[in-house]
Amino acid sequence: MEITYYGHACFLINIHGKAILFDPFIGPNKLAAHIEIDAIQPDFILLSHGHQDHIADVERIAKHTGAQLIASHELVEYFKNNGLTNVHPMNHGGRIQFEFGELKMVNAVHSSSLPDGSYGGNPAGFVIKSADQAFYYAGDTALHLDMQLIAEDYNIDFAFLPIGNNFTMDIRDAIKAANFVQTEKIIGMHYDTFPYIEIDHDAVKKIAEKENKALLLMKIGEKVNI
Ligand code: NI
Ligand code: MN
Repeated sequence: MEITYYGHACFLINIHGKAILFDPFIGPNKLAAHIEIDAIQPDFILLSHGHQDHIADVERIAKHTGAQLIASHELVEYFKNNGLTNVHPMNHGGRIQFEFGELKMVNAVHSSSLPDGSYGGNPAGFVIKSADQAFYYAGDTALHLDMQLIAEDYNIDFAFLPIGNNFTMDIRDAIKAANFVQTEKIIGMHYDTFPYIEIDHDAVKKIAEKENKALLLMKIGEKVNI
């Protein structure tokens, strides 16, 4: 899989020729000012919840590319009202086969209102299983024991976990989360974008190393193959 980081919790993941974009928040993110939004070409856009720092560029990218939006029923209804037509609503527990592989919507412990104050459904995470790898995208979440259920059904190769603290888990809880889903590879997200979630990179890397976790903090715009 090829992973490109666009800052905050936004990643483009190419799985056997299908590109999936998670939680686009690029335009308002000063750290991502060098990213050309209209050059991003997803086939699917997945949303974990309705907060502005996860949905800012959904309409622009979806209208420009025709990508299919996959999110909670409530978020899908909101974006249908804003003109999107290529949508697939889901809710927690749903396990659906898409062209990129199997997608399961799983629990997250957070909140999910939309920028206009309307209800955004419950916040979610996702598990994706392709032909050769499986990964967990936690969304914005606190640590919770339901993560252990993921390891019962999937061999998780790597996990996107929030590490910024304050609104989500910090690195210590992210390491526990990695243990719950039984992976050694963490791709950090949801840090440094705002003063509340600024982190000391050396300090979190040391903590991860001590716990035998490979923690990847990608540069914004960087691509890796995993
Ligand atoms: Ni949030
Ligand atoms: Mn957030």
